[in-house]
Amino acid sequence: TLTQAEKAAVATIWAKVASQADAIGAESLERLFSSYPQTKTYFPHFDLSQGSGQLRGHGSKVMNAIGEAVKQIDDIRGALAKLSELHAYILRVDPVNFKLLSHCILCSVAARYPSDFTPEVHAAWDKFLSSISSVLTEKYR
Ligand code: HEM
Repeated sequence: TLTQAEKAAVATIWAKVASQADAIGAESLERLFSSYPQTKTYFPHFDLSQGSGQLRGHGSKVMNAIGEAVKQIDDIRGALAKLSELHAYILRVDPVNFKLLSHCILCSVAARYPSDFTPEVHAAWDKFLSSISSVLTEKYR
């Protein structure tokens, strides 16, 4: 679980990220698909070219879910319960991929807000994303 200081750091950086959430979501997916092309196999039905409507739409959904987790930071499991079932039972996304996407989100945020991305913010945001990943992968077995 996150400390009070970590929660505060997450909330502070999210206040900035929220205003550009769609762009950051799309950029994170672009980074995911170009650096880790095997992840594209989960999206055979998507047009994954840079800036496509589907890519932007999906990036926006992912960031919205993260925003819900920020709002319910003391109950991330509750906030993402439905998504957890979707990813585990229906999509069956291999858990390793959550680390890859988290890394890409981290990079997108760092690239956009370099001066806010202190080591403390980096660590807090990384821990927060890994809590989200744990929740989204915990129903697998
Ligand atoms: C769908 C969030 C990680 C693959 C979704 C949706 C959301 C979401 C909000 C839409 C659900 C709906 O339409 O009801 C997240 C979050 C993640 C994450 C917050 C981690 C931070 C991943 C990863 C993969 C993945 C790592 C695979 C590499 C998919 C696929 C869909 C989906 C294939 C369905 C897309 C479609 O057909 O519209 N995810 N996701 N997700 N996610 Fe994730």
